[in-house]
Amino acid sequence: MIAATSRLVLRRMTPDDLSPLRTILADPITMTAYEGAFDDDESARWLERNLQRYDDDGFGLWAVDLPGAGMIGQCGITRQRIDDDEVFEVGYLFNRAYWHRGYATEAATAARDWAFRELGVATVWAKVRDTNLASMNVAIRLGMTVRRRFVVHYRGVDMPHLGFAVDRSRETGSRTTLSPRPTPPRAR
Ligand SMILES: CC(C)(COP(=O)(O)OP(=O)(O)OC[C@H]1O[C@@H](n2cnc3c(N)ncnc32)[C@H](O)[C@@H]1OP(=O)(O)O)[C@@H](O)C(=O)NCCC(=O)NCCS
Repeated sequence: MIAATSRLVLRRMTPDDLSPLRTILADPITMTAYEGAFDDDESARWLERNLQRYDDDGFGLWAVDLPGAGMIGQCGITRQRIDDDEVFEVGYLFNRAYWHRGYATEAATAARDWAFRELGVATVWAKVRDTNLASMNVAIRLGMTVRRRFVVHYRGVDMPHLGFAVDRSRETGSRTTLSPRPTPPRAR
């Protein structure tokens, strides 16, 4: 197990997770930001890529289990590029039947904190397509602000993106205390 929240468990995916993963990735609405649903081969490659990430990096997108319901989504940390920079990204994709219940934010908060704690990274990013409002709202709930604009080339499409990020110091409470603002001079 990677992490447990009050309602969810994050764990490594296994080849047995292909079926619930296909359900998520085959849904055209869920996959709007990825330019449409994945077929079975694309879903299998997606799973293989994540298993490879566990071997290469020690982390990746993890399965999110809701006890009693099984795998309802995926969420985790991956190495990504924004233009020429390498960043650590929190990713989240959930089965549409489980949207609007706070599960994505709950899982992504645990993944963000895992990256700060276990990897010691200074900043966690979320690369969000500029049409993906639900994802932006998760990023905002994670304490992120917009830091970058860039274009991702994926499935033959140029996709404008926003780079959301949150710094470790903000979450650990060790943020430098701002000096009180000087009192403005009184108008005469
Ligand atoms: C992005 C995605 C994971 C967001 O899912 P989500 O369910 O909207 O996000 P959250 O888990 O933060 O849930 C927030 C909603 O749950 C509601 N909610 C209900 N119970 C809640 C609880 N106990 N705690 C917190 N929020 C709760 C909130 O009010 C909010 O409602 P709203 O969506 O009507 O504003 C989902 O849209 C998705 O899987 N999209 C497709 C994949 C994708 O694009 N991923 C991002 C790529 S960058």
